[in-house]
Amino acid sequence: MSIQLSDEPLAPVMAPVPCRILSVERELSDTYTLELEPPGSDWSFLPGQYTMLYAFGIGEVPISISGDPADTTKIVQTIRAVGAVTDALVAKQPGDVVGVRGPFGTSWETKAGEGRDVLIVAGGVGLAPLRPVVLDVLNHRDRFENVTLMYGARSPGDLLFADQLQEWRGRFDLEVLITVDQAQQTWRGPVGVVTSLIGRSSFDPESAVAYVCGPEVMMRFTIQEFERRGFTDDRLYVSMERNMKCGIGLCGHCQLGRFFLCKDGPVMTCAQMAGSCWIREV
Ligand SMILES: Cc1cc2nc3c(=O)[nH]c(=O)nc-3n(C[C@H](O)[C@H](O)[C@H](O)COP(=O)(O)OP(=O)(O)OC[C@H]3O[C@@H](n4cnc5c(N)ncnc54)[C@H](O)[C@@H]3O)c2cc1C
Ligand code: FES
Repeated sequence: MSIQLSDEPLAPVMAPVPCRILSVERELSDTYTLELEPPGSDWSFLPGQYTMLYAFGIGEVPISISGDPADTTKIVQTIRAVGAVTDALVAKQPGDVVGVRGPFGTSWETKAGEGRDVLIVAGGVGLAPLRPVVLDVLNHRDRFENVTLMYGARSPGDLLFADQLQEWRGRFDLEVLITVDQAQQTWRGPVGVVTSLIGRSSFDPESAVAYVCGPEVMMRFTIQEFERRGFTDDRLYVSMERNMKCGIGLCGHCQLGRFFLCKDGPVMTCAQMAGSCWIREV
């Protein structure tokens, strides 16, 4: 394995660019979506990429971009508050400034799904990194065959982007299947793990492409279920999260086997991961 740095000088890649917060929206009790002014007019990103977000004086964390890749006027990031840095980020107000580095990392490669059935499978806050895939596919809907979003959350109250899910459910060209682990009597949808939705959707396992993001145990069971149905590893995409510091393959914090997930990932196919594969470790 060789450490390959880009030709760019290191300082600009490592220096957070101050970006103004345009809006803060509460999604769930612990999860907020921030919209930021991009660092420059040439800002763009690919679905699945992340930025390193810096709460000045507190710390820097990797956060996936959750907005529409076609809208380069803002950076949209959805953050669950779990510790010092994410707590500080979600407490920000419009007009406050945070530091941004990136975008970094690999993408979900939606082109791989063109001409095929597409399955987008999300668990919990894993819908945030996958929302750009849904939006990208819908922006170019005629390029894809059947498109299905399968989403699992703990309870109906934990569904991320609830209004948008409702809107997507109203579309004739996107199948949206949602399940929850636990529900009150008012919930009329399926109850159970997200893998239980796979049998309800229609796709050709010989050619379909799946993009899967959520807790690792959820991704493992989902991948196993797709493989059982005839998917090959090269058509199964997952997003691997590890502690990240530099974001550019320098510090080694994100190492998983022979990969530095900050630049070789976070999105990888199961075929790429063969050998260091966690998928069969259930
Ligand atoms: C590529 C990538 C994309 C990410 N995208 C998002 C996103 O879109 N939205 C979001 O809310 N979070 C995302 N995360 C996770 C986020 O980076 C962590 O929650 C954050 O680093 C926690 O920092 P903290 O200082 O707030 O909490 P800490 O005090 O550092 O950690 C609090 C708790 O969170 C756990 N934790 C820390 N880092 C991670 C991690 N990477 N994955 C899972 N658990 C972790 C710790 O083990 C600890 O239990 C992403 C992580 C990666 C690597
Ligand atoms: S975060 Fe430093 S090598 Fe990946």
